[in-house]
Amino acid sequence: MRKKSGSRRIILKAPWEIEKLREANQIVAQILQELRELVKEGITTKDLDRIAEERIREQGARPAFKGYYGYPAATCISVNEEIVHGIPSEKKVIKEGDLVSIDLGVILDGYYGDAAFSCFVGKAPSKQADSLLRATKQALYAGIGKAKPKKRLGDISSAIQEVADSYGFGVVRKFVGHGVGRSLHEPPEVPNYGVRGTGPVLKKGMVLAIEPMLTVGSYDVEILEDGWTAVTADRSLAAHFEHSVAITDKGPQILSDGFI
Ligand code: MF3
Ligand code: CO
Repeated sequence: MRKKSGSRRIILKAPWEIEKLREANQIVAQILQELRELVKEGITTKDLDRIAEERIREQGARPAFKGYYGYPAATCISVNEEIVHGIPSEKKVIKEGDLVSIDLGVILDGYYGDAAFSCFVGKAPSKQADSLLRATKQALYAGIGKAKPKKRLGDISSAIQEVADSYGFGVVRKFVGHGVGRSLHEPPEVPNYGVRGTGPVLKKGMVLAIEPMLTVGSYDVEILEDGWTAVTADRSLAAHFEHSVAITDKGPQILSDGFI
């Protein structure tokens, strides 16, 4: 989500609500898994979006992004220097070596699922590109590892940033993770940079969409003329991974588990 200011209260979820969120996120995970296998040279991002929307409806769910502040599609598909919010298009043909990021959200029975991954089409175009992808995934799991009762939000943020820093990659600041529940975006914002030991104390029943976006160059963002597509200001490669995670007594539970 785009970074906003102001804060409302964090909504805690009952165990049965976490199960609802798991159902929604499992639909997301299953479709992302299928899309991952379909991302091949020659397919258009519009083809991928069409398949995603079909699958969502087959499962009795609805696309969460379509119509959200006027967003026109079921998925966001962002290629190479595009970071997030790429609009699927029949003009956008996938080619060998592309770094493709697919973000998908659904609503099922009033509860939201939200997750994303990046992958290469065929082989990574360079060692650096390959390491960007691995670093972003590692950053996501480092953040998830801190999603436990009594930790603080800043522990998640700083764990993500430390991984990015250790590789020398940039962390996008303009977009952040978020709470997720009966709305796609709930408090709190979950930045991918920050200071450990600061911010709200994490509690059982919080559900967070954790979504690091890393860049090989500058983390500055530009929005293209379509009003949505966020690209790196220096047009360097960017990667994005996202899981929806419940904080429980047993530790973090990845509700969207199964596709990365
Ligand atoms: N996972 C993204 C986010 O949380 C997807 C939002 S796309 C939008 O910002 F189209 F719905 F805005
Ligand atoms: Co999200």
